[in-house]
Amino acid sequence: MIIKKVGVVGCGLMGGGIAQVCAESGYETIAREINEELLEKGIKAIKANWDKAVSKNRMTEDNRGLAIQKLKGTIDMKDFGDCDIVIEAAIEQMDLKKAIFAELDSITPANAILATNTSCLSIIEIASATKRPEKVLGIHFFNPVPAMKLVEVIETISTSKESMETGIDFSQSLGKQVVKAKDSPGFIVNLLLILFLLDSIRAYEKGLATKEDIDAGVKLGLNHPMGPLTLTDLVGLDTTYHIACAMYEETADPKYAPPVLLKQMVTAGWMGRKSGKGFYEYK
Ligand code: CAA
Repeated sequence: MIIKKVGVVGCGLMGGGIAQVCAESGYETIAREINEELLEKGIKAIKANWDKAVSKNRMTEDNRGLAIQKLKGTIDMKDFGDCDIVIEAAIEQMDLKKAIFAELDSITPANAILATNTSCLSIIEIASATKRPEKVLGIHFFNPVPAMKLVEVIETISTSKESMETGIDFSQSLGKQVVKAKDSPGFIVNLLLILFLLDSIRAYEKGLATKEDIDAGVKLGLNHPMGPLTLTDLVGLDTTYHIACAMYEETADPKYAPPVLLKQMVTAGWMGRKSGKGFYEYK
């Protein structure tokens, strides 16, 4: 299947990054937000990334111009009516995702692929909201999308071989390295990452070490690019909390139960980098 036009549901941290790499890779791209204010914020952030790329000589002025032409924004899902693939990057709530997929199913061409960027939710459950489960799969990007090389392409028990092939070819055409995963909680990366983040938060919560020393230990002792508490701030405390809750609900394994401190910080509105405060403060 040839992909020409890509729809992205959501233009926040993840959706914006996905729309950016799609437009940069030459696809007609349309990103949808729930209101004009969020849309403008999302498109502005993408353009700022392109300006930065030009100033660092990673992108030519011409290519920035081309990418800008390829990118459109909308607040109307009906604008996905001629998309060949739509990637959903809304917040991690099953009811919301099912409502979005039911709407996409009624709007997009019958042969369009519907992909979710969910980090943890059951993709077959999301697919059950459509009449085309064979065309539903996971395409899971990592944050920050433009900088991270990996994409997990995830197949459910209903995803067709052809849809998987299209999802893999498309992800590779964005310059990403693909790993194939099954539709099980956390797929490959979050299955491992979320426990690591939760255990780091528990260590801090118990007062075993300062946040700076936990981060320095992992950064310098394991050669990770950032420590786990800094990484939780990057991923978003709310996102980490939602993933932990979803994995706990799905597996009933207490190791995924979110630490009380994480819940308290999310309740206080401390979402990490995006809100200006998490384990650390950001300007
Ligand atoms: N948007 C776009 N590009 C960005 C970026 C952003 N927000 N942040 C950094 N980059 C790019 C920079 O432009 C730079 O590119 P060039 O080298 O081509 O100029 C490159 O990334 C490196 O950036 P910096 O030099 O500014 O900073 P750094 O070397 O400290 O790297 C980092 C920053 C890439 C974020 C690095 O610290 C890192 O890899 N951290 C770990 C990130 C990680 O683990 N992400 C996965 C999170 S889990 C997830 O996303 C899955 C999920 O479902 C929860």
